[in-house]
Amino acid sequence: MAKLAPSILSADFSKLAEQVALIEQGGADYVHMDVMDGAFVPNITFGGLVVKSMVGKTKVPFDVHLMIEHPELRIPDFATPQTEFITVHQEACVHLHRVIQQIKDLGIKAGVALNPATPATTLEYVLDEVDMVLVMSVNPGFGGQKFIPSALDKIRELDEIRSEAGLSFVIEVDGGASLRNAAQLVEAGTDIIVAGSAVFGAADIPARVREFKALI
Ligand code: DX5
Ligand code: ZN
Repeated sequence: MAKLAPSILSADFSKLAEQVALIEQGGADYVHMDVMDGAFVPNITFGGLVVKSMVGKTKVPFDVHLMIEHPELRIPDFATPQTEFITVHQEACVHLHRVIQQIKDLGIKAGVALNPATPATTLEYVLDEVDMVLVMSVNPGFGGQKFIPSALDKIRELDEIRSEAGLSFVIEVDGGASLRNAAQLVEAGTDIIVAGSAVFGAADIPARVREFKALI
């Protein structure tokens, strides 16, 4: 069974704790937190202070997605007691191997995200070190974009590499996920589906989380 990580990017930021309580009620597995710096991506969201403010407001673990330049300077800001994953972008890390170690040294699982144009093979020499590969199925920066179909091939490729090499990283997909493509994403090898607008855009958010969970 795959897991669901609703992205608070599409939540009402003026009542974040209440919105997260709704996804918890529906049985969400993670809270996906999209950190954007206005430089790596053309949008700014929130930083470590907001992430820290959510500690204890929910029991759901945090899945932190850093869409920022020089993530190595900021990683400690996101290492809360509720943070399960910190994911950095392959494209933002000159010394990716070192950054992965930096996350793991804080006792947190390390993820690496790939933009739609970045091949899976760029991770060949670090795959045995990572806990998660995040396959971007939209160009990062905004919620509510259209799913890019080639992401499915990348997921299948990563799933194959994983079984051939006997590795145990999880595969997460992020962008354009919906009730329509959720089953196909899982079939391709996805372990965690991120969904922003498809969850927080629903009139009944807990019911929408349950609908997703029933499909995956
Ligand atoms: C996009 C973010 C996503 C975003 C997904 O840059 O990384 O997590 O919230 O939103 P939807 O599910 O609406 O495509
Ligand atoms: Zn994300």
